[in-house]
Amino acid sequence: MKFRDSKLLFITLFVVLSVQIIHAQSKNQALPHLIKQGSANLLMVQGEPFLILGGELGNSTASDLAYLRPFWQNFKMMHLNTILSPVYWELIEPEEGRFDFSLVDSLIYSARIYDLKLVLLWFGSWKNSMSCYAPSWVKRDQQRFPRARTRAGQALEILTPFSEENRNADARAFKALMQHLRSCDEQQQTVIMIQVENEIGMIPEARDYCDAANRSFARPVPVELMNYLQSNKHSLMPEFRQIWERMGYKASGTWEQVFGKGLHTDEIFIAWHFAKYTDEVAKAGKDVYPLPMFVNAALIRPKYQPGQYPSGGPLPHLLDIWRAAAPHIDFLAPDIYFKNFKEWCEKYDRSGNPLFIPEVANTQSPANAFYAIAQHNAMGYSPFSIESLKAPQFHPLGSAYDILHQLEPLILMKQGKGQMAGVLLDSTHHKTRIELGNFIFNVRHEYSWAYAQKSEGETPRFGGMIIMLEPDEFIIAGSGIIVTFEPRSNDGSVAGIDWIDEGRFINGKWTPGRRLNGDQSHQGRHLHLPGNTYGIQRAKLYAYK
Ligand code: DGJ
Repeated sequence: MKFRDSKLLFITLFVVLSVQIIHAQSKNQALPHLIKQGSANLLMVQGEPFLILGGELGNSTASDLAYLRPFWQNFKMMHLNTILSPVYWELIEPEEGRFDFSLVDSLIYSARIYDLKLVLLWFGSWKNSMSCYAPSWVKRDQQRFPRARTRAGQALEILTPFSEENRNADARAFKALMQHLRSCDEQQQTVIMIQVENEIGMIPEARDYCDAANRSFARPVPVELMNYLQSNKHSLMPEFRQIWERMGYKASGTWEQVFGKGLHTDEIFIAWHFAKYTDEVAKAGKDVYPLPMFVNAALIRPKYQPGQYPSGGPLPHLLDIWRAAAPHIDFLAPDIYFKNFKEWCEKYDRSGNPLFIPEVANTQSPANAFYAIAQHNAMGYSPFSIESLKAPQFHPLGSAYDILHQLEPLILMKQGKGQMAGVLLDSTHHKTRIELGNFIFNVRHEYSWAYAQKSEGETPRFGGMIIMLEPDEFIIAGSGIIVTFEPRSNDGSVAGIDWIDEGRFINGKWTPGRRLNGDQSHQGRHLHLPGNTYGIQRAKLYAYK
């Protein structure tokens, strides 16, 4: 090769490599953010989509890192990739303007050692309605930091959202936290998302009755909200639109003129003000370090009225109010402690709201996670008080997360494209029918004589997911389900199982194990994922006449 040619080759290689390095660096340096993929929202972390296989710490656990220390290994053993942990306003700002981030730093440091990500929960003005995590200097100075009041005028241990002083104090502390995170974590990005406040809501009244609140209630509905309602009239949550419709879609007026008189209007009013306040706090943080931010809700028990449950929080019927008031909040999230897991997923997976479940009762079946991730494109799942699980080495969550971890690249590739379905079966839903590719999947609960005999016990909740690889080839993962197949073509043909393999994804590559064409598939009649563990099977189907 001539000198001139080799010089050219060298320059070309240099340019190509430099471009690659710059590209890799910019990918890594992009902050965590959300992107759209079909109907799904993916959380991007260091340039790659990320599925949160999480667990939330009990409320007090992160206030003493020595207490937390023995649990980190368990989190790894159970295949968690993310811990949701509170950050307490009273502990980071014990005196006004003096910040102490030592707990946050140690938390980040420990998470890095175990290669775990963090979602931080800002326990600021409100934690389960109350202001129990506000610092002493806030709690004890009611003149400066006023409280919400009952109709009878009694002060509550709830900071009123109608005070700029309250809001600004919270926003300053939150901003300081986000500034600190930027300075210590922007490169490594251990912290990937932030929950602003915790389970906001008014209780035991549907709204605040302090003087400022009463004055505001008598004023017209803000033009900002009226404009939002007008321009989104056709896509409002139906249950919310009905309220406005009943009053003749009024374009202006007081809260009671626009929405009618009643607890529902008290709740709409307080929701707007909670959301405005929270948005200012989120904005202060995003201005310095724009991580994705969300709010979580305490859900409603059947038949409870506003005031009996924490009212005005980020509940599904108030999604439009929160969206209009809080553009710095990326999504609303449910804390699911009730058994009707599916219904709450459906209610939150509406109108483009990304689904993430920051809290779920840790007694619920991890089959929930398969359902939410496949059926509702959830970006993550997180049982509460994760450190308190007994015998973590045998806990079903570990086996479920092992499988979800293996499937993560495939799931993230398929979310939002209509090539995945989730299944959740229990005493209320024994079977379901799913159409995917060229086939119909009849999925039923493994319910067998063993459970039938235990008639006093509840039917265990089982479930899983079906992922289409090709129109005739599928990954079916989960636990306790039996699947039979029918062709979708209505031409009298019958579905046959060519083969079923169990297996594992190792570094994203399918590695088959046993072929299951005998007893395990009832001699080619069905696919069965036994209920004693979580597993993956791959099936190739065909049709014959
Ligand atoms: C929901 C709250 O968000 C958590 O902080 C915790 O209080 C749990 N409830 C307790 O069940």
